[in-house]
Amino acid sequence: MVQINTIAAVSALLSTAALFVSAQTNETMYPEPITIGQYGFPHGHLIVGWTPTKTTMNDVCAGTRTFIQSVQTGYYSNPLCGFPFEIDGYSNLTLQCADGTDTLASQVTAIATNGVETHVCTKLELSIFSTYCGGGASLVQQYACQ
Ligand SMILES: *[C@@H]1O[C@H](CO)[C@@H](O)[C@H](O)[C@H]1NC(C)=O
Ligand SMILES: *[C@@H]1O[C@H](CO)[C@@H](O)[C@H](O)[C@H]1NC(C)=O
Repeated sequence: MVQINTIAAVSALLSTAALFVSAQTNETMYPEPITIGQYGFPHGHLIVGWTPTKTTMNDVCAGTRTFIQSVQTGYYSNPLCGFPFEIDGYSNLTLQCADGTDTLASQVTAIATNGVETHVCTKLELSIFSTYCGGGASLVQQYACQ
């Protein structure tokens, strides 16, 4: 029993280490967390992404943000998930939704790079993660992805 437990523990440790190494050395992966949020204005909103370690919410208000989707007077520019975007020179990132890739899908769970999951997203429910941008616009953080 002791031996079996030891072997299981060692192999769990090894596979954790292997995952860690491959996640850290893969050059295609953007090695920073990404925040997904909603930039709202009177007749619609944009879903945007930014790098919270480098970009403040005021920067995002002022225009430093990656466009992912526009929703204006009920018109959706593209589906939220499966739509390629670029951030900080890393391209072909896509949001992954639990409810599919249709236009109205909205339940973001992860970000993939070239179709492979690279960031897991956590939904942020609290309104403290929001700010007023001025001019009737506001910014709300919706998902923290890392
Ligand atoms: C990085 O991940 C991608 C997607 O899984 C893979 O195609 C590529 O070979 C990996 N690169 C390295 C250096 O591990
Ligand atoms: C972008 O990612 C998709 C998978 O989501 C993949 O099929 C495609 O080859 C990638 N494009 C480039 C230029 O790497």
